[in-house]
Amino acid sequence: MEKRAELYRGKAKTVYATDDASRLILHFRNDTSAFDGQKIEQLDRKGMINNKFNHFIMSKLAEAGIPTQVEALLSDNDSLVKKLDMIPVECVVRNLAAGSLVRRLGVEEGRELTPPTFEFFLKNDALHDPMVNESHIKTFGWATEAQIARMKELTYKVNDVLKALFDKAGLLLVDYKLEFGLFNGEITLGDEITPDGCRLWDKETRKKLDKDRFRQGLGGVVEAYEEVAQRLGMSL
Ligand code: TMP
Ligand code: ASP
Repeated sequence: MEKRAELYRGKAKTVYATDDASRLILHFRNDTSAFDGQKIEQLDRKGMINNKFNHFIMSKLAEAGIPTQVEALLSDNDSLVKKLDMIPVECVVRNLAAGSLVRRLGVEEGRELTPPTFEFFLKNDALHDPMVNESHIKTFGWATEAQIARMKELTYKVNDVLKALFDKAGLLLVDYKLEFGLFNGEITLGDEITPDGCRLWDKETRKKLDKDRFRQGLGGVVEAYEEVAQRLGMSL
């Protein structure tokens, strides 16, 4: 399948049409952004690593019965995916406190969250992705009650699968963000699951191995992503 017209350029990926109206190509770039696009840098190899990482993780989720948009790895930086009608909300589950939860609620970073928390955010950089609730989602027509329930169900199921997968690699899945869309009316996991959109800490040392290294200027960003990939047994 070949790339045709560029349909959308996001902060880290570009979306292309293909000859099949129901399929798209996601091109993972080296661009790395934080703070709603205010900080952007090119990190060598990051696009390739995230493309392969996303394919690896999405394949594991598909094996566990989660409907995902991913169809095939096409090249180092490109994946073929189903074209989804995206729902403009982000689903975030947290197993340990970090990031905006720590800032908003003043809890200690690293505190275990039992049960894990679930939050919705509106996908809107200009508004800095504000937190929204189910009432907002229904009132503004972003998703129906049944679609909300399904997104929550799938997001929690992803937690079970990925916590176990990362645990075996000596990693803690601190939190993660998912985006869903509709394919033939069915809620389907889209976007990406990579260290750009989740937090992963070493189980013993709690060393950060995700995009917080970039957000916080800690350095070794790509090296950290590579370490995670290698611990998962991925070939890059
Ligand atoms: P937060 O602590 O900034 O709210 O983020 C929670 C998790 O969701 C973290 O792993 C980063 C991810 N995330 C994104 O990838 N993009 C976003 O726009 C947001 C709000 C969160
Ligand atoms: N994904 C958002 C951005 O690129 C937020 C973040 O990851 O910090 O700006």
